[in-house]
Amino acid sequence: MTVLQLDRISKQFGQFQALNQVSMELKQGEIYGFIGPNGAGKSTTIRIILGMLQATSGSATLFGKDVWRDAAEVHKRCAYVPGDVNVWPNLTGGEVIDVLLKMNGIYDKKKRDHWIERLQFDPSKKSRSYSKGNRQKIALIAAFASNADLFILDEPTSGLDPLMEHVFQQGVQEVKDNGKTVLLSSHILSEVEKLCDRVAIIRQGEIIEQGSLKDMRHLTRMHIMVETRYPLHELEQYKGIYDVEEQGNILHFQMDAEQTEPVMQYLSQQGIIRLESSPPKLEDLFMRHYEQKGGR
Ligand SMILES: Nc1ncnc2c1ncn2[C@@H]1O[C@H](COP(=O)(O)OP(=O)(O)OP(=O)(O)O)[C@@H](O)[C@H]1O
Ligand SMILES: [Mg+2]
Repeated sequence: MTVLQLDRISKQFGQFQALNQVSMELKQGEIYGFIGPNGAGKSTTIRIILGMLQATSGSATLFGKDVWRDAAEVHKRCAYVPGDVNVWPNLTGGEVIDVLLKMNGIYDKKKRDHWIERLQFDPSKKSRSYSKGNRQKIALIAAFASNADLFILDEPTSGLDPLMEHVFQQGVQEVKDNGKTVLLSSHILSEVEKLCDRVAIIRQGEIIEQGSLKDMRHLTRMHIMVETRYPLHELEQYKGIYDVEEQGNILHFQMDAEQTEPVMQYLSQQGIIRLESSPPKLEDLFMRHYEQKGGR
C-alpha cells in the first residue's frame, strides 16, 4: 500500500527553484532514507509533505489524500520530528510532550513514560533550559509514544550523543516492526545505511538517484585488500581498477563490481594468500556523486 506519493513536485521561491520535479513513493512498512548536501531541498520537500508549504506544481498525497487540501485530516496519522525543535519555553518538557501527544488524539501514558525512560529524559525542567539534544528528545518521545502511521524525521539525531543515537535506531526499527512507515532525512550516512530499505539522493532540488542500497551498490566499487605470493604488476592494466596502494606484499585497491571475475582470475593466478573485500559504503557513493558533479 502506498503511504506517500510525490509526483513531479516543484517549488519556486521567487526566482529560485528549490525543487524540480521531485517524485517518490513510500510503501507501507518501509524506512526510506532521504539524503543530500546542505540546501539540496530535503526540508523543503518535507514541509510540502506536511502541508506547511504549498508546492508550485505537481501533486503530493498522504494516505491517498492531498497534502495541502486535506492537511488537517492526514496530520492525525503523522508524527514529525524536526532537527531543530522549538517548543513553548514556559512549559516543562513533560508538559510539551503531553501537548504534542494530545494534539494527535491518543494519549498513552505508559508509552510516554517508557520513552522518557529509554531516552533518559528529565521532563521536569522548563523547556527554555533544555540543550539542543534534550529539545530533540521531546519531539522524539512524542513521536515514538504516538501511534502515527507515518513518521517524518528531518535530521532527528543531529543533537543526540552516540548512546541516544543507538536508542533512536532501536525506536525506528520497532516502528517498522509494527508495520509503520518512516521517512528519514539524515546526514549521518551510517544511520541511513543501517536503517533504510530504500534511499533517495537529492542535489540542487533534483533527485539524482533512488533505489535500494543493494541496487545502488552494484553501480559502484568494492574495496579489495589482497596479499599474493607473486607480485601483481599487471593489475593496473585491468579495467575498472582504481586507487591502488602498496603496503609491502599487501595491495589495497578499488574495483568496479562488474570487473570482479577477470580481476579475481588474475589474482588467483598470482597465488592468493589473503583476500578481503568490503562493499562500498553509502558514504563513498555519496561522495562520488559530489566529486563528479560538484556540490552547490
Ligand atoms: N522560505 C524560503 N524562501 C527562500 N528560499 C528558501 C526558503 N526555504 C528554503 N529556501 C532555499 O531552498 C533551498 C533548499 O533548502 P532546504 O532547507 O530544503 O535544504 P535542506 O536539504 O533541508 O538542507 P540542510 O541539509 O541544510 O537542512 C536552499 O537553497 C534554501 O535557501
Ligand atoms: Mg534541512
